[in-house]
Amino acid sequence: MKKTIQSLFVLCLGLSVLTNACKISGKKGNAVEENITEASGSVKAIPMPNTLASGNSFPTPEATIQGWIKQSKVDNNELETNPNIIKHGWDIWAALTELTDQSYDGNNRLRRFETWYDDKEVTNATKAGTPLVNMKRTPSTPAMPRQISIHAPEIARNGFSATSFNKFDPSMAAYIVQNNLLKSAALNDSLALQSSKPNPGIVTLHLPTSAVSLKPVFSGNTIPEGATSVRIPVWTGPSPVGPKGGVNMTDTVTVTTNQADVNHSNKIYYIDDFIHVLDDQGAIHILTAMHVSTRETFRWTWQTFWWSLNPNSPQIPSSSGISNLRPNVILNDPAASRYAMAIAYNMVVPAQPKVGGSGEGQSSIYAYNPYLEAPFQHSTFSYQTTLAKYTYVNPNNDSGIHTNCMSCHGQASVPNGPAYIADQYVSRAYDGQFKGHLLTDFSWAIVQLQIK
Ligand code: HEC
Repeated sequence: MKKTIQSLFVLCLGLSVLTNACKISGKKGNAVEENITEASGSVKAIPMPNTLASGNSFPTPEATIQGWIKQSKVDNNELETNPNIIKHGWDIWAALTELTDQSYDGNNRLRRFETWYDDKEVTNATKAGTPLVNMKRTPSTPAMPRQISIHAPEIARNGFSATSFNKFDPSMAAYIVQNNLLKSAALNDSLALQSSKPNPGIVTLHLPTSAVSLKPVFSGNTIPEGATSVRIPVWTGPSPVGPKGGVNMTDTVTVTTNQADVNHSNKIYYIDDFIHVLDDQGAIHILTAMHVSTRETFRWTWQTFWWSLNPNSPQIPSSSGISNLRPNVILNDPAASRYAMAIAYNMVVPAQPKVGGSGEGQSSIYAYNPYLEAPFQHSTFSYQTTLAKYTYVNPNNDSGIHTNCMSCHGQASVPNGPAYIADQYVSRAYDGQFKGHLLTDFSWAIVQLQIK
């Protein structure tokens, strides 16, 4: 039976691996239900392409990216303006959202990122000691993203919520499983071994340069089976700032599955203007945001995307300078072209060296996602008091709208490593906060997913 839904990847809410309970259904009005357990077993994780939309290779050589970072310059809002960095961010978005020849049901083609492995699949393969390629695909239930549930419950106020999981490209997923990176015991052993040497230096994991890590975020308010619309929160810029530093979304749009109801002046948008997925209950989940990082360079590349009311002149933390550089492959995709991007490949400007730099007297460079970091309050960054023992800490940066992906992810370490910081320069020096810790190569997911 032909299905028209642009079902992007299948979320099996309440999926039990043992009961074959996972089904998908077609678009409203054309509903069909089908057991996907067998079909999903055959979905192949499609790697990044070797050539990106601009013609640059993937991974782009470290030296090329470091050359761009040296030219990094911020605008008045302390947002990146370097065209090479911005184009690279769009190159990655184009590759992630490109339709592949894979599908769960034989009809609806999946976007590249949808074919990738999620936390649960990587955890299950690690526990089973089985290479991922031999595991049956088990599409995941989105759970509350950890950094939201722990640090920003504000986002769930006003009746709105968000759901999320992490995803890894096939090379990163396979590397994590092969090297037992989710096994606490294995990491503790290598930390102990390295720490026992006379001059141990920084102890860190090294993921492959092809690694790509994602955090897709969906509106927790879905369009349930039988309904035709839902209201979701949208970003109108970084104000008003609450007394504790957090910024919440104050505006909404309606998403409809009836094309006849579309009315942009009344903020009613068609479902195909959003990347969206259907779950086994027939509910449509709308992709509101996605965090993206790649291991092409030693401190990774960092870019984040969110659905925008004005994709051609998006609000802070994006800009027209950023949106103007979208390539045609994105502009020709009605859903992918609606997402705004924030991007930062350095912690401060001018960019500082790996070890021994300082943020003192440098410009900030911000990159955050309205749906994830914006609600973070001053209290989220209490660790900065400890950090100040080791390095200069910029006192202006202590809330979600003053964060930088790299600063916070650079803290990721076991056991019980350093904690959340806003936009600050951090030296990867051994004789400081990282002593006695194993750095997880900027991956918070590896810290969160440790199997005791
Ligand atoms: C204040 C700390 C903090 C900031 C700032 C931050 N993140 Fe994260 N991020 C986390 C934590 C913690 C997790 C793990 C959450 C989980 O497992 O649910 C995470 C998860 C992720 C993941 C998925 C897996 C991983 O750990 O790599 C990606 C990709 C990611 N973040 C990218 C970004 C990008 C891009 C930005 C900036 C726009 C950003 N993050 C800003 C703390 C932060």
